[in-house]
Amino acid sequence: MELAAWCRWGLLLALLPPGAAGTQVCTGTDMKLRLPASPETHLDMLRHLYQGCQVVQGNLELTYLPAHASLSFLQEIQEVQGYVLIAHNRVSQVPLQRLRIVRGTQLFEEHYALAVLDNGDFLESAAPAAGMAPGGLQELQLRSLTEILKGGVLIQRNPQLCHQDTILWEDIFHKNNQLPLKQIDTNRSRACAPCSPACKAPKCWGESPEDCQSLTRTVCASGCARCKGPQPTDCCHEQCAAGCTGPKHSDCLACLHFNHSGICELHCPALVTYNTDTFESMPNPEGRYTFGASCVTACPYNYLSTDVGSCTLVCPLNNQEVTAEDGTQRCEKCSKPCAPACYGLGMEHLREVRAVTSANIQEFAGCKKIFGSLAFLPESFAGDPDSNIPPLQAEQLQVFESLEEITGYLYISAWPDSLPDLSVFQNLRVIRGRVLHDGAYSLTLQGLGISWLGLRSLRELGSGLALIHRNARLCFVHTVPWDQLFQNPHQALLHSANRPEDECGKTESQCCMLTVCQSAGVPRGLWRQQSGTSLCMCLSQVPHR
Ligand SMILES: *[C@@H]1O[C@H](CO)[C@@H](O)[C@H](O)[C@H]1NC(C)=O
Ligand SMILES: *[C@@H]1O[C@H](CO)[C@@H](O)[C@H](O)[C@H]1NC(C)=O
Repeated sequence: MELAAWCRWGLLLALLPPGAAGTQVCTGTDMKLRLPASPETHLDMLRHLYQGCQVVQGNLELTYLPAHASLSFLQEIQEVQGYVLIAHNRVSQVPLQRLRIVRGTQLFEEHYALAVLDNGDFLESAAPAAGMAPGGLQELQLRSLTEILKGGVLIQRNPQLCHQDTILWEDIFHKNNQLPLKQIDTNRSRACAPCSPACKAPKCWGESPEDCQSLTRTVCASGCARCKGPQPTDCCHEQCAAGCTGPKHSDCLACLHFNHSGICELHCPALVTYNTDTFESMPNPEGRYTFGASCVTACPYNYLSTDVGSCTLVCPLNNQEVTAEDGTQRCEKCSKPCAPACYGLGMEHLREVRAVTSANIQEFAGCKKIFGSLAFLPESFAGDPDSNIPPLQAEQLQVFESLEEITGYLYISAWPDSLPDLSVFQNLRVIRGRVLHDGAYSLTLQGLGISWLGLRSLRELGSGLALIHRNARLCFVHTVPWDQLFQNPHQALLHSANRPEDECGKTESQCCMLTVCQSAGVPRGLWRQQSGTSLCMCLSQVPHR
């Protein structure tokens, strides 16, 4: 992101109330071992997602990284809500020295909170030139990791990895982490140095004296779950996770349940209190919403607040989304049955459906807002003779002309050749990105034959990255004011292998001088190169569909 944009976010964050600004939160990903959608931009993607992030609300997945990848953008991460996956990398180190706690709210292969797999090559053919170290993860260096609340550990096929077998994993597993699986192989192709003599016990995350494992559970006096030493007075408060610097619930390294302004609590203060004298429910001025493992005065942007005081991305059953005057959105109980809604892929009866096809497209006719996502895949336009689904026709896509909002993502990897743009979505204003493709992308356009975007009403991507790549004819990607569409500092446009910009200037757009468009009142950006608009003179020169 450009410097100016960073400044803007910095200012924004400084204006937020403490507690919101104190911790930098990011979303994480959900790709597992799938190859990156765009290898060219993969490292860039991770950098945008994690730069400055302290708390990963989802999973931290680091996969397929080349030996020379610089990963310093990971070094602020302290907490991961889901799982950590480090797989198929050739980097020798992953700088997660500040990571304290993995909560395991999602697990890898249903069992693992930490999985480290296939980081390096056993094969002779991959042997590097003489004198160079072979690629692959050498040490975990997770020197601050002292808590896994749920799930086990899987470490396999890392030929260069040392010290994983010295770690006392039972000390890291929380006492209520029921029977975590532990599968750790030590099949390696190099000899390991011993732990540093500075370590009290021969347990370490790496060779250096800073990488000794610090024990916060197995060394405690009886009756305490975490401690900072063996004495009974070293016990941590019961609301602590990972460890502590003192006995109080404000001395925790991480919170077991919720962080309320630096104090670890079992619950966030309720939004409503009950007055037993007057028999009345009163709004509680000290009330807080729960957001991940913290208490917040208001839900972060793009999250919906619920009556029960949580921040969510999808309203619970029998609730509907309502927008307040200030633009914040919340879930409200429907007094009658909820009004019928248009559901997209991934929701309700379309939960398991992969793509928009001729079998389901009529469901979207007349919809202004779709709850869920839309995906157009080659199978959409190829049809499926086996299930008697004919190919989707270009004209059928006109059902989307009424669409203004998608709560999930928009993913397009196939599109009719007869359409030069995506103008069937010309009224689409907002892609919320409350559900993201691969857990990362709110807008993906890949491998299409379109020449320009035609998303002339698009004003907001509420969350998530935009990935626009391998569209050999596509121009005008960079005239879109992406920074105005994005709502948080972890969003960015990732692009590669679209039509080279210098070629774009010389073709059909040649007439389309920005000044002409501006004087005609057409806003800068993607809507400037738009067929079917009479506002901008130059547009009449664009070949019509
Ligand atoms: C609680 O949150 C505050 C920011 O609001 C942060 O400074 C503090 O380190 C957090 N404490 C714990 C134990 O996570
Ligand atoms: C250990 O690695 C060798 C190759 O170096 C391989 O043949 C063997 O199957 C591996 N053993 C295990 C238990 O993974």
